Amino acid sequence: MKVIGINTSPRDGSNNKIAIQTALDVAAAKGAETEIFDTCKMNITGCQGDNYCKAHEGKCAIDDDMTKIYSAIEEADAIIFGSPIYFGNITGQGKLVLDRLYSYFMSEKHQKLFSNKKVSIIGTNGVAPKEACIPALNAVLEAFGMLGFQKGDVIDLPDNNDLKAIEGKEDQLTEAKTLGENLI
Ligand SMILES: Cc1cc2nc3c(=O)[nH]c(=O)nc-3n(C[C@H](O)[C@H](O)[C@H](O)COP(=O)(O)O)c2cc1C
Repeated sequence: MKVIGINTSPRDGSNNKIAIQTALDVAAAKGAETEIFDTCKMNITGCQGDNYCKAHEGKCAIDDDMTKIYSAIEEADAIIFGSPIYFGNITGQGKLVLDRLYSYFMSEKHQKLFSNKKVSIIGTNGVAPKEACIPALNAVLEAFGMLGFQKGDVIDLPDNNDLKAIEGKEDQLTEAKTLGENLI
């Protein structure tokens, strides 16, 4: 069993990354192999919309660090996608990664491969209420659903502007742990 985390926060000390890692630790304690990707430290270009993938069995024409994430997604049994909320949406880096998954869209081979893989989403934010953040996170889950993945949990963890603020929030860490448990 392999569970991967896709962290799209650019910050060292990211609350989102801590939440993802907390969920992964639960999976690891149950015997899963885990890996986390810091996408802001990777060279990932935006989708060019050239539809090369549609004529090449879901393979993207761009040769950049996204190839590492493609391989990990194809090997994983479960995936956690995490993003801070930036102006009511996921981060730009998160959208870059998500758009590049378009290469899998309408690929029968990948729809079948992904049908046994569950995806869950973790958001972190500052002062906005959860209701303002959940729609953007749900939209990410819907995108994974369109690609054929099983839809798991969506959680948003507010009041996390300060670096590592989440470390003092037992309730939020418990939410992240539950999300991790539900992936196994
Ligand atoms: C460019 C930018 C836009 C932001 N927009 C929002 C927002 O719309 N709503 C909100 O509640 N917090 C917003 N925040 C705060 C972050 O969502 C919050 O600090 C989050 O917990 C950061 O996650 P991280 O610690 O994993 O980086 C914004 C922060 C930045 C830098």
